[in-house]
Parts: sequence; structure tokens; C-alpha cells
Amino acid sequence: MNKIAIIGANEYQRRLIRKAIEMKLEVHVFSWLHDRKHINSDISFHEVDVRMIDKILSICKSVDIDGVCSISSDLTNITVNYICNKLSLPSNPPNVLRLTTNKYLMREELLNNNAPVPLFSSNKDNINFNFPMIVKPTDRSGSRGVTKVTSKSDLSEAIKRSSQESFSNEIIIEEYIEGREYSVESFTLDGKHNILQVTEKFTTNAPNFIERGHLSPARINTEIKEKIFNVIKKSLNILGIITGPAHSEIRINNQGDIKIIEIASRIGGDFIGSDLVINSTGIDYLQLEIKRSLSINIDKSELQQKSLNNIMSYFFFSNEDQLNFNNIRHIVKLIDYKIINKPKLKVTDSSHRFGYAVFEVNTSDIELVIKKLNLDKN
Ligand SMILES: Nc1ncnc2c1ncn2[C@@H]1O[C@H](COP(=O)(O)OP(=O)(O)OP(=O)(O)O)[C@@H](O)[C@H]1O
Ligand SMILES: [Mg+2]
Repeated sequence: MNKIAIIGANEYQRRLIRKAIEMKLEVHVFSWLHDRKHINSDISFHEVDVRMIDKILSICKSVDIDGVCSISSDLTNITVNYICNKLSLPSNPPNVLRLTTNKYLMREELLNNNAPVPLFSSNKDNINFNFPMIVKPTDRSGSRGVTKVTSKSDLSEAIKRSSQESFSNEIIIEEYIEGREYSVESFTLDGKHNILQVTEKFTTNAPNFIERGHLSPARINTEIKEKIFNVIKKSLNILGIITGPAHSEIRINNQGDIKIIEIASRIGGDFIGSDLVINSTGIDYLQLEIKRSLSINIDKSELQQKSLNNIMSYFFFSNEDQLNFNNIRHIVKLIDYKIINKPKLKVTDSSHRFGYAVFEVNTSDIELVIKKLNLDKN
């Protein structure tokens, strides 16, 4: 039986764990103890901080692991990449991880190779662009420490907030890019970048841009789609991605100009990689990733779109959001719904969202649902 190691056990990683169990693999989960209670199936649970890479490596060696994978987190992606490289298991070279988990290095590499990125600087005394600007940590996710700054007087405070959130105290200041937001899910196999889906993203907008919901597939025409595919494939090449999933975030303005916000060399979180892709396209993204990690042969047909459904995710920040969802519940087909904890008074990053719904929408109802859920405020 193939032995798979899954790093982390958050909401999205638990979906990967369930998929591995469904595939009848021997599953080893590495995570903090408090995650254990969420996984009640027959797996081997190893209580460990996911950043303790050498401890995890040594357990993987001792159980003679065949593959290592994760989803949704840069932190666990770093661990996966480290172990895979040490054990000669399928993975990208370490430099890919360096570039895709540091927003500054990523920008530099993309800019040097003529990919479309915002102007940027690591230092407030060396800025060659105008307000508004975005200040963010180089190494965090979930919109932690991200602020839109519109005047010089607010810049220092935003930098302070960002550095405090940053693991390394490093920040990046960027030109603010106008436009709608999308993410692109891809899967690279045998050197070929396969684009699985383009997803539209709805956020709280300024100042913190926390994700409120998504729609797969995005409402874009074929011409824009082709443009996106070209930019993403070129950027994946620049970053050196030779295998596996990527989650690329972009903005497109009214003139159709694309700018890259960031690219992660892993499956995206927020239900995009785990729920939206499979329910909208029929492509089993999690299974693909598990198979690839284990070097199990993947047939071309597994990468082909089998269906075309409109799938949305919607996150509850307040009781009002939950009520709004209840009001449209009768016109959508529910896939998943969960209340995780009590609403927080102040939401400053995505960990403060208190519940969610994932659902299918008829094409003719998309505009109405987006309006009723107050998603389209851009
Ligand atoms: N240069 C920019 N111009 C305009 N908006 C930006 C820019 N950089 C970031 N944003 C906005 O802030 C959001 C979060 O930024 P980014 O993705 O870089 O941080 P993150 O912490 O990794 O967030 P997440 O994990 O939610 O993707 C983006 O999705 C986008 O809405
Ligand atoms: Mg992001």
C-alpha cells in the first residue's frame, strides 16, 4: 500500500486527508495536537509543529514514506518541498519555494523577466510611484498586515503593522493596481502547465482586502481568458515551476491589462482548490496532487474538464452575512455550510471569518446572488 504524508490538518488539509483515505492509502498526518479531534478515521497522526522540518523528515524516513503533500498554506508547502527534496520525491527545486513564498523575491524575478507586475520597493525612502499604495508583509498570507495607503501620513503606521505581522519583519510597498481580481488554478505535469480553472474573487476591498467569496468559473470572455493563460504560463516558467499545482492571483483593469498579485506553488485555500475546482469542472484536483506526489501515473483525461457548473463560496463575517445567505438559500444548491465560531466584532484578516457556504448557482441567477450577498462592491 502506498504511504502518503500530509502536512497540516486545517479545514482544507482535512479535505486532502479525506481524499487520501478514500483512495485507500496509508495516511500519515503531521500537525498540532488540537487538529487530531477533527480527523476520526484510521490514520497515523504525528503530533508535531509543521515547521519542525527535520523531525518530520526523520519520521517520514522511518515509515518509508512514498510521497508528501499539502494544500492551502505556504508554511506547510515549505515543509513539503524540503522533505521531498531530501527524499528525492516529486517536487519543485528549493529555489521555486524561495521565490513563491517571498513576495519581494517573486516580484523581482518576475520583473527581471518581463512579466507584468506592479512597481514595488522594500523601502519607503526609495519609491518611484504614486499613492495609493499597498503595504504588506513579504511572507504572510490570509491578508494579514495588508493595507492600502492613500497618503504619506499613513505610510509609517501601515509599515509598522506589516512588519509586526511579518515572520521576518520584512515588508513590500507596491503600486496599487485597480481592477477585478481572479485566481488561476494550474497543475504542471511532465513540464506542461495545465490551467484547470479561473475563479473570480470578491474581497472586503480597502483597506485590508479580505476574501469574502469566489465564483468559478469567472465571468470572463475567451479573449481575456487566453490572455490570462499566456501570462500565467509565462510566469510559471519564470518562477521555475516544473511540477504540481499553482495558485496564481491577478488583477485585470477595464482595459484588459493583467497584473500579477502573487503566485503560490501549491493548491489554493479558501475552498478554491478543494471544492470549487472539482465541483465546477469535474477535475479531481486533490486526487491529482496525491497521485503526483506518489509518482502514480496520471492519464491525460484526468486533467480534462468534465462539467461546467457555477460554484461559489461565501464567507460570513457578521450575522447579517449569514442572514443574507439564508435569504438566497432557496435559489442555490448547497454543497457545504458550516458555522465555525462566533462572529468577531472586528475582522482584520481571513482567520476572523466565522462561517461559510459553498454552493452551486444557475447561470441566470449569478448576478442576483452576487447582489444579494453584497459581493460586488468593487
Ligand atoms: N499591488 C496591489 N494592488 C492592488 N491590490 C493588491 C495589491 N497587492 C495586494 N492587493 C490586495 O490585497 C490582497 C491580499 O494580498 P496578497 O495576496 O499579496 O496577500 P496575502 O496575505 O497572501 O493574501 P491571501 O492569502 O488572502 O491571498 C489581494 O488579494 C488584493 O486584493
Ligand atoms: Mg494572496
